Amino acid sequence: MNLFTPLNIKNKILKNRVVLPPLVRFSMVGKDGYVTEELLEWYRDVSKGGTGLIIVEASCVAEDGKLRDNQIGIWNDSFVEGLSKVAQIGKQYDVPMLIQIHHAGFKDAIATVSTEKLDKILEQFIDAFKRAKSAGFDGVEIHGAHTYLLSQLNSRLWNKREDKYGGTFEKRMYFTKELIERTKQLFDADFILGYRMGGNEPELEDGIEIAKYLEKIGVDIIHVSSGVPNPEKKQEVKIDMPEDFKFDWVVYLGVEIKKHINIPVIGVRNIKTEEQASELVENRMLDLVAIGRGMIARPNWVEHAKKEYFKRTGKLVK
Ligand SMILES: Cc1cc2nc3c(=O)[nH]c(=O)nc-3n(C[C@H](O)[C@H](O)[C@H](O)COP(=O)(O)O)c2cc1C
Repeated sequence: MNLFTPLNIKNKILKNRVVLPPLVRFSMVGKDGYVTEELLEWYRDVSKGGTGLIIVEASCVAEDGKLRDNQIGIWNDSFVEGLSKVAQIGKQYDVPMLIQIHHAGFKDAIATVSTEKLDKILEQFIDAFKRAKSAGFDGVEIHGAHTYLLSQLNSRLWNKREDKYGGTFEKRMYFTKELIERTKQLFDADFILGYRMGGNEPELEDGIEIAKYLEKIGVDIIHVSSGVPNPEKKQEVKIDMPEDFKFDWVVYLGVEIKKHINIPVIGVRNIKTEEQASELVENRMLDLVAIGRGMIARPNWVEHAKKEYFKRTGKLVK
C-alpha cells in the first residue's frame, strides 16, 4: 500500500491518496459569487495533474454568510449552472469531486444569535446540499472547522447557547445532526458525505469525541483541520504534542483521530513533499493527505510525486 494505491468510498474510486483541500481562489471569483472561466481552468489543471480527490472550495449557503466578498455562492439556483461546469471537469478526468458547504457564522457572538436565524441557516444548508447534488458533484464536505459557523457551534468555548443549539455535547452537535438527518435521502451509494472538523475543539480530546459522533451519525469521510483554539495557547502549536512528532500539529490531530474511527481520514497542513506524504500513508497514519499550497504551486503535484517516488524507490507508478 502506498500513496498511489486507489481507495474506494461508496461507489467512487479515488485513483490515489492525494486530495486537493478546499482553497478559496478569491482572485478568480467576483463579488457576485459565480464560477468563472479562470476558476474552471484551475480545477482542470488540478484534475489533469492526477489528483485522487478534489474538494471544491468553500461555497456559501447565504449571501450574508460569506467569509470574504469574492467567494463562490450556492445560495440560490442560479449558481447551479456554473457549479455544474466544475463538476463536469471531475467526470471528464475521473476525479471524484466534493464541494465544501460553508457559512462564516458569528464568531464568539454565536451565543447571541436567535434560534430562528439558526433554523433559517439550517434550511439554507439543506437547500445547498440539494443544489450540490443537482450540479453533479460526487458529494459535499460540511465546513465544520476554522472557527466558522459549525466550528462555533461545536466549540464548548464559544457555544454558550441555552436553546436546542447549545448546552451539552449532543446539543452543540444538534445543527450537524439535524442537517445530516434531514438530508439522509440524498446520500445514496453515489453521493458522499464529508465533514471538515476542528481536531482541536479546543483540545484533541474534544476532536476525538466529535469525530466518533460524526462517524456514528453517518459521515463517510472526515477531514481534520483546526478549530476554535484554546486562548491560553499563544504559540503556533495549539495543543500538547509529543516533541518528536515530525509533522505539523494539525497533521498530528488527524493521525490521533484516525486511531479512534474506522471511516477514512484526510490529514492536512504543511505536507509538501512526496516523501512526507508517502510516509504518512504507507505507515497508515492517515488514509489520505491533502496538499493545499503545494497544489497552488504545482497543480500537477501528483504527476511530479510519481517521478519523485521513482527516483527514491526505483518503483514505477503509472
Ligand atoms: C488561499 C487559501 C484558501 C483556503 N480556503 C479554504 C476553504 O475554502 N475552506 C477550508 O476549509 N480551508 C481553506 N483553506 C485551508 C486549506 O484547505 C488548508 O487546510 C491549508 O492551506 C493548510 O494546508 P497546506 O499547508 O497544504 O496549504 C485555504 C487556505 C489557503 C492558503
